[in-house]
Amino acid sequence: MVGALNADLGIRVDRLPAPGETVSGREVEVLPGGKASNQAVAAARLGGRVRLVGAVGDDENGRMLREHATAAGVDVSFVRVLPEVATGQAIIPVDDAGENSIILVPGANGAITPDDIPIEAYTDASLVCLSLEVPLPVVLRAASRAVSVGATVVLNPSPYRPLPGELLDAVGVLIVNELEAEQLLDASIEPAWPAGAEALRLALEPHRIARIVVTRGAAGAIVVDGDDITEIEPTAVEPVDTTGAGDAFTGALAVRLAEGRSLADAATEASVVAAFSTTRRGAQPSYPTIAELAEFRDGR
Ligand code: RIB
Ligand code: NA
Repeated sequence: MVGALNADLGIRVDRLPAPGETVSGREVEVLPGGKASNQAVAAARLGGRVRLVGAVGDDENGRMLREHATAAGVDVSFVRVLPEVATGQAIIPVDDAGENSIILVPGANGAITPDDIPIEAYTDASLVCLSLEVPLPVVLRAASRAVSVGATVVLNPSPYRPLPGELLDAVGVLIVNELEAEQLLDASIEPAWPAGAEALRLALEPHRIARIVVTRGAAGAIVVDGDDITEIEPTAVEPVDTTGAGDAFTGALAVRLAEGRSLADAATEASVVAAFSTTRRGAQPSYPTIAELAEFRDGR
């Protein structure tokens, strides 16, 4: 997993503040987060062999993130400690319905350069997961390195920004939520789901992306695998905190794909993992182990 590590400052609120409004919060917590770091922990908890590649500052948050990932079984030897810059932070108010807003302060994630990541970081990788909380040149370099070692690039274009064709050309598996899918298609098209999956498949055909997953939150997911389009049923839960559910999905999907499972199978499991994660607070602290996942399934 190549990308961001953040210290997430989670705050419970009755509802998210509107512009100009003050609301009161409670239960402030600092929890390990950041998209790549979240994906790495999600995958490692499910038995994946995971290397996390990114940067933190030389500070308490950076140590907390590395320790937490290491405890989950993630190799953090390619997480650079950059001097004179703080570890990335995310300020995350979460309302009673489990919905959140996020303010990102990139810190070290914004300071990392392509040359901070040696080629050795990619050795033996079968999959390389990319997200967009680090500078685009870093993402592009990682994508080309991944291709050069024969790894499949899994891209979660979040937070969304226009994607260069060069990046899309390197992608093997694209994971988007509905909003990102719409942004990728064209702001003027509002695809109806699941029919929109076909539009997405066609739009990405020039880049030879045959494997696409559209995550739909409480509505489940849609899997495009070549000509096959499969709908994944949602797992009904009462969400407490949806922060990092998408990263749980990506991490779980990646580990199952690396094991050789089909995209539809991997996405089916990933959607259960993502649902599980919404039943607990925070991002990484809410990701299941193999045993917890089995228990969750048995209880349904
Ligand atoms: O995807 C969830 C993550 O986004 C949070 O952990 C936060 O760090 C932000 O980067
Ligand atoms: Na959660």
